[in-house]
Amino acid sequence: MKMETKQHQKPILQLLMLTSLAAAAAALTADSPRCRTACGNIPIPYPFGVETGCYREGFGLVCNDSYHPPKLSILYYDYEVIDISIVSGEMRVYLEAGRACYNSTGGLISSSTPPTVLIESPYVFSTRTKYVAVGCPNLGYFVDPAGYYVSGCVSICRPSAYNNLNGSCTGDGCCQSSIPTGLDYYEQYLQNFIVAGGAGIFLANSTPCAYGFLVDADWFRFTPSYLSMTSDLRVPIVLDWAIRNVRNGSAAVHNSTDYACRSANSTFYDSSNGAGYRCNCSKGYEGNPYIETGCQDINECEHKDQYPCYGICTNVPGSYLCECPRGTAGDAFTQDGCRPKDKFTLALKIVTGASLGIFFALFMGFWAYLGLQKKKLIRTRQKFFEQNGGLILQQQMRSCRGVTFKIYAKEELEKATNNFDTDRVLGRGGHGIVYKGILEDETVVAIKKSKIMDDNQTKEFATEMLILSQINHKNVVKLLGCCLEVEVPMLVYEFVSNGTLYSFIHGKDQSFIPFDERLRIAVESAGALAYMHSSASTPILHGDVKSANILLDDKFTAKVSDFGASKLAATDEVQLATLVQGTCGYLDPEYLITCQLTEKSDVYSFGVFILEIFTRKKALYFNGPEEDRSLASCFITAMKEGRCLEIFDSQVKSEARAELLEEIAEIAMQCLSMWGDERPAMTEVAERLERLRRIQKHPWVQANDSEEMDSLLGESLDTHANHINGHNYIEQTVFDLEEGKG
Ligand SMILES: *[C@@H]1O[C@H](CO)[C@@H](O)[C@H](O)[C@H]1NC(C)=O
Ligand SMILES: *[C@@H]1O[C@H](CO)[C@@H](O)[C@H](O)[C@H]1NC(C)=O
Ligand SMILES: *[C@@H]1O[C@H](CO)[C@@H](O)[C@H](O)[C@H]1NC(C)=O
Ligand SMILES: *[C@@H]1O[C@H](CO)[C@@H](O)[C@H](O)[C@H]1NC(C)=O
Ligand SMILES: *[C@@H]1O[C@H](CO)[C@@H](O)[C@H](O)[C@H]1NC(C)=O
Ligand SMILES: *[C@@H]1O[C@H](CO)[C@@H](O)[C@H](O)[C@H]1NC(C)=O
Ligand SMILES: *[C@@H]1O[C@H](CO)[C@@H](O)[C@H](O)[C@H]1NC(C)=O
Repeated sequence: MKMETKQHQKPILQLLMLTSLAAAAAALTADSPRCRTACGNIPIPYPFGVETGCYREGFGLVCNDSYHPPKLSILYYDYEVIDISIVSGEMRVYLEAGRACYNSTGGLISSSTPPTVLIESPYVFSTRTKYVAVGCPNLGYFVDPAGYYVSGCVSICRPSAYNNLNGSCTGDGCCQSSIPTGLDYYEQYLQNFIVAGGAGIFLANSTPCAYGFLVDADWFRFTPSYLSMTSDLRVPIVLDWAIRNVRNGSAAVHNSTDYACRSANSTFYDSSNGAGYRCNCSKGYEGNPYIETGCQDINECEHKDQYPCYGICTNVPGSYLCECPRGTAGDAFTQDGCRPKDKFTLALKIVTGASLGIFFALFMGFWAYLGLQKKKLIRTRQKFFEQNGGLILQQQMRSCRGVTFKIYAKEELEKATNNFDTDRVLGRGGHGIVYKGILEDETVVAIKKSKIMDDNQTKEFATEMLILSQINHKNVVKLLGCCLEVEVPMLVYEFVSNGTLYSFIHGKDQSFIPFDERLRIAVESAGALAYMHSSASTPILHGDVKSANILLDDKFTAKVSDFGASKLAATDEVQLATLVQGTCGYLDPEYLITCQLTEKSDVYSFGVFILEIFTRKKALYFNGPEEDRSLASCFITAMKEGRCLEIFDSQVKSEARAELLEEIAEIAMQCLSMWGDERPAMTEVAERLERLRRIQKHPWVQANDSEEMDSLLGESLDTHANHINGHNYIEQTVFDLEEGKG
């Protein structure tokens, strides 16, 4: 490599002399009125100054007003000042770039590389400054006062087709390098060169001039125009200034005459580039810390952009207060930070929140519990409904059209009976309680609420209910419906207004009951029983025939109630032993042996009933001698002793003929036979009683023909009565009689 070097003469000694002279002219006072505060548009803050005594030692400037605008420069150096910053401790000045121009063969035409010397001054080159060399080829570098290399770079050009010379200073036409801190001397060299061997292609003499300079890196932007330039070049550079007569602030702070930070509200900070310190206003103050009263309190409230406050701003020395308006609280330093003050304290909030939570939880729990209970209830009802044969019943009802039988909901019956009010009780029996109920459509009904029912009978029960509901006999209390949603089904019957025959006969007012009235009731009751025994394919047994189960309507028509109700009584093996079906005094003695209810059981009970109605004595009475307590046994004893008529009511004896009474006694006697086989069928009983009634009604039979009556009385219709149904046999009888009469 062939190098051409041009060494400049160093003017260092001269400059050092000049600086020491300046130090002798140190100023003691600063901001006096005679001191210029600006040169043209450039402010001159203390410690800088133009006039003698207006600047701190080393900070003197020159303002030459012969220039337009006036030119400000550093005293003893001709570096033109662009601006001065107190806060950042920087000064920007223009410096001449070094320049070397060559002829086409590379011969040097002109060269200018003035050194920049800042030794012993407050100034050093800022690290924001970079060393830049432009031109092709160009080796640019600079040295320290002792001539040692400090920093530099090489810039070479490629053919323009490959160039991308746009802003980037990276070695192609332009190169740059960083500089070290504390740099206060700069002397550069620019070298043109031709590469002899073949190590890479260096285009020689591509540009007329090569430049090298320190420059403010923020300002410099490389453009290709630099490569064709031949004129002088002036570029801005950044200098860091500081109080550099001591090494650091700590060393200066105690020398009150020399300490630079004059303002009360100021502090020093050590220079990061070179020795010395600078001053800064304390936080919350602004201004010039190098002047006695320089740092002034910042009225932050007037600078909301820098000092945000969204509440009420109050300035205090060095700071400011920012509070939320009255009635609000929160952070006034942030937008929407203030919120209306809650009357609730935090504790109250917690308590309220907790109580609300607990309440909510309880409420949910209760709600869920209610839901569960309801579900359970519905399930239970459905279970009972199915258990009680509701499904079968529904099915059967669907298949039998025109059935008036109704399945009632539990609520309907509860409403009808005023929730089973005790005032509504019509009667209490062994099997349950009967209530008077008024349905929605004003129909008066009797509702029987049984106590217990055997599980095995439930399915049968529904079927039986359906059969019973289809029975439409004027002497049978009609079953209107039932309710299956309860453990033991409730039965709904038509309401019969005049109470039971039992209370009619044995009631408190022992009113006169005519014989034919008694006979009619007996006939009607017998007819109803006969009808039930013979109506369906399987006979419907009553099971508990007694005067208390015969009701009287408003016209004193007899109505047999509680058909099949005995089925509702518990009948499991254990209970059988203790809970005998039927009622004492009416009970079939054979049943006690066989435990089997038959039609003949009803016949036996009816026998007791006949005695009861004609003797007006109770089936069991407790006021006689011990052996006379049962009406049946009492009667049988009397019959055997031939005193059959004695037992009848005196009223009956006076009214009815002895033959009729004897026949009644005979029927009763047969009904009360020990063995069922010996008892007549119910149809026969009904027929014989009906015949007696006719005789009683028609005096001609009584007056004219006692023989005919005897034959009437003696005639047995047993043989065919069993085969005809309940309705027909009465008509048949009437027909026979009329035939006989004709
Ligand atoms: C101002 O500048 C002019 C021209 O460079 C020079 O002649 C003159 O002496 C300067 N004045 C001062 C006060 O430096
Ligand atoms: C270029 O400069 C060199 C030295 O200064 C000289 O020898 C040479 O003749 C010059 N070439 C031309 C073309 O001017
Ligand atoms: C150089 O940069 C300028 C601005 O960034 C842009 O407008 C121009 O097109 C660029 N030129 C090249 C050759 O990249
Ligand atoms: C400050 O300078 C003094 C000497 O001038 C030195 O002893 C001291 O350690 C320096 N302090 C700091 C923090 O650099
Ligand atoms: C204070 O500084 C001045 C100027 O640098 C110096 O002359 C003087 O001796 C210093 N005083 C002390 C106590 O260091
Ligand atoms: C500012 O200076 C005043 C006066 O010396 C002083 O009272 C105050 O405490 C200073 N404030 C701060 C924040 O240093
Ligand atoms: C000097 O003060 C200003 C304003 O208070 C602050 O922004 C800056 O960071 C401070 N400089 C130093 C070095 O503490």
